[in-house]
Amino acid sequence: MTVPTPFGVRIAGTGSSVPDGVLTNADLESMVDTSDEWIVKRTGIRERRICDRAAGEGAFGLECDAIRKALDAAEMDPGELDLLIVGSLTSEMRCPSNACRISEAIGAAPAGAFDLNAACCGYVYSLNIAESLIRSGRHRAIGVIGCDVLSPYIDYEERTVSILFGDAAGAAVLVRDDEHPERGCIYQKIEANGSGWESLYMPRREEDIPPNAPPTEVRLGNLRMNGREVYKFAVKKFQEVIEDALESTGLGVDDISQFICHQSNIRIIQSAKEKIGLPDEKVYINIDKYGNSSAGSVALCLDQVTRAGKINPGDHVVIVAFGAGMTWASSVWKM
Ligand code: ACO
Repeated sequence: MTVPTPFGVRIAGTGSSVPDGVLTNADLESMVDTSDEWIVKRTGIRERRICDRAAGEGAFGLECDAIRKALDAAEMDPGELDLLIVGSLTSEMRCPSNACRISEAIGAAPAGAFDLNAACCGYVYSLNIAESLIRSGRHRAIGVIGCDVLSPYIDYEERTVSILFGDAAGAAVLVRDDEHPERGCIYQKIEANGSGWESLYMPRREEDIPPNAPPTEVRLGNLRMNGREVYKFAVKKFQEVIEDALESTGLGVDDISQFICHQSNIRIIQSAKEKIGLPDEKVYINIDKYGNSSAGSVALCLDQVTRAGKINPGDHVVIVAFGAGMTWASSVWKM
């Protein structure tokens, strides 16, 4: 639980950005041995957004767009940020971080800037860390971006991974709120267990591939996944993480206005909904239109839910994600 401070933390604005390019299930039918019916039934996905690399689209552009929109919504100047965190596993370069380049591009320098890789949990990890840094009293305003552009790392000649992922970015601006100490993240969890990493990884070299890895057609450099293993882990962990967030805060389902969940597979979300008894109107779903956008997923959902007016000051919101690593995270907010 968050230690009370004489000030709170507020999400002052959110933004998001997706590329225009749409990859539909019908498009995939012409690329790999799959069908619209199989994809919809097994994942809930109908289409996803994909960057046009030839036109120069990528994570950096989406991230700049998303944080600019979040700053606009917050009615803040970039220069007011004192830190920028980018949760992503697909920054263009190993060095420098995308955060440093974004800070310069939007006019936030000399704000501190770093990228954080927690796979699909990148945004929730970053949100929790940003909130904690403001609570520490050392920071006043932090920009948090969640983004992944996985399409360059997907082997579109292979059907297990190519049907799942889309490209997207979302952002939020967190600020210290001296007038409302009750606002902010009231409970958070960031955890990981590396023992299952072989279920979801992106090997750069032959040496990265574990000796007992099952045979795959996915090319080196691209994302490899043991879908069944990830599915089993996710179904169990999603339920556990949501139940832990409710039990630890003493809140019931009725007290929560929105559950914002990583959009990994509609069946994974559905399973948690049924087991915990979450009503449809409290669980936002956009996987049908955007697929799994990894660290972009929760960030995009939070922006869409906010802009749809589904979150009001004082509401409790539960945010959860899981991802490669394996990682998982939750963040319970009093908005
Ligand atoms: N089209 C048609 N058939 C397919 C496809 C496809 N795209 N992919 C697999 N199949 C076939 C399989 O070959 C298999 O055939 P068989 O029965 O003849 O052997 C059958 O469909 C069932 O395959 P499964 O792998 O058991 O299918 P499953 O129901 O598990 O669905 C899926 C696969 C969608 C990948 C599911 O396992 C899943 O969603 N897993 C979780 C993935 C996930 O969330 N990953 C992201 C983690 S987040 C991050 O950090 C990046």
